[in-house]
Amino acid sequence: MTTSFSAPASPTANIGVVGLAVMGSNLARNLARHGNTVALYNRTAQRTRDLVAEHGDEGAFVPAETVADFAASLQRPRTAIIMVKAGAPTDAVIDELVEVFEPGDIIVDGGNAQFTDTIRREAAVREHGIHFVGAGISGGEEGALNGPSIMPGGSDESYATLGPILASIAAVVDGEPCVTHVGTDGAGHFVKMVHNGIEYADMQLIGESYDLLRRGAGLTPAEIADVFAQWNTTELDSYLVEITAEVLRQVDAATGRPLVDVITDQAGMKGTGTWTVQNALDLAVPVTGIAEAVFARGLSGRTAQREAAQARFTEGQPTGELGVTDRDAFIEAVRLALFASKIVAYAQGFDEITAGAEKYGWQIDLGEIARIWRGGCIIRARFLGTITEAYAADEPPVSLITAPYFAAALDATHAAWRQVVAHATLGGIPVPAFASSLAYFDGLRSPRLPAALIQGQRDFFGAHTYGRIDRPGAFHTLWSGDRSEVEA
Ligand code: 6PG
Repeated sequence: MTTSFSAPASPTANIGVVGLAVMGSNLARNLARHGNTVALYNRTAQRTRDLVAEHGDEGAFVPAETVADFAASLQRPRTAIIMVKAGAPTDAVIDELVEVFEPGDIIVDGGNAQFTDTIRREAAVREHGIHFVGAGISGGEEGALNGPSIMPGGSDESYATLGPILASIAAVVDGEPCVTHVGTDGAGHFVKMVHNGIEYADMQLIGESYDLLRRGAGLTPAEIADVFAQWNTTELDSYLVEITAEVLRQVDAATGRPLVDVITDQAGMKGTGTWTVQNALDLAVPVTGIAEAVFARGLSGRTAQREAAQARFTEGQPTGELGVTDRDAFIEAVRLALFASKIVAYAQGFDEITAGAEKYGWQIDLGEIARIWRGGCIIRARFLGTITEAYAADEPPVSLITAPYFAAALDATHAAWRQVVAHATLGGIPVPAFASSLAYFDGLRSPRLPAALIQGQRDFFGAHTYGRIDRPGAFHTLWSGDRSEVEA
């Protein structure tokens, strides 16, 4: 079909989508299915034609061949969601839209943008009197079509128009749409970035659990699939645990082997987990479990180093025994270790959001963030409802690990967690995320940390000074003199 779309006589669309690859076209279809009239624009018009030809009967679409026609088809304030590749392609579309939009109109970036880019773009677009909203959208292709979790930033004024439109397409849990106005400018993309960091941690922790059950306890992938399916009926109930069972049950048609055994063991990444860790480093927030998850993906891809180490260190590979005498007890211990480590991953992620909000001046309601993550997104999980409750308390916790429900859960799990980490370490199974999460927990709860010694060392070699526990001020010991102490 090569017919051109005619220029619209009058603006009829209440929302537009620019960029009609799978995510964009699924989002446009979701919008149309929920009663919105959706203007469509794609750089290559054929894609727009295909969408209308294949799905035109799902709702009201107004296809446009030019960005000018696209703008003309939108009611005011014109509101358009950009669904193109993050980076330069997003900037190019913003520039095009700014040309044809007017003050009061709203440009939404629904991609996985760096939040610092969103802050920059918001300021630049605001110069034209146009609102710019960075909106994190989670849930992949399926979520975009059937209900994602949406994390929009931007101004209050833009949210007044945009909020109801996003609420019409978001996932719904307990009657509430999984969308909230996260905060101004880059707040939405910041929270989406942390969501992805937690996603990486969650996936790594599940991976370590699988490895322990496989190489540690000798279970087959099909047996482990059953274990995960059972775990999904417990506190661990979540999308990622659910799909883990599905992936482990899959048999490769070509070889008849479990699919997981024929997939190359190098994890890819597009970089959002790395951003989470980079920003955590800038904010000095210890997101250790998330960082280990990113590094574990990195390690999996160090092929030359892995080959060299495998060739050199052949002794003592895990045998599938790992001293496990009671299989069921071991499986339960791994489940508890997974639960405990997962609590830490969320505690770290929420700590980063708190620190980011402070640095960038955002008012972020942490309970609301947990609420909108209950459905639609990749980390959706039963226990997010409990996180919302924790932050709704009269005195919200400074760390999730001390909120009553999670503190009790850690009381009940940490003995098993230690056993699992010790077993894994002695047996040669790498559990970086389990172990670093446990170290984080023990670090926070230690009455004294060796940081005091580090301060002493810093003072020794660099006169960096230290504080004292018994009085305020900064002090220095005259290390190369008589070793008396002076106030700095
Ligand atoms: C989501 C996902 C989605 C995507 C990420 C992670 O929330 O829907 O997080 O954004 O899967 O890009 O991908 P990588 O693992 O490739 O970084």
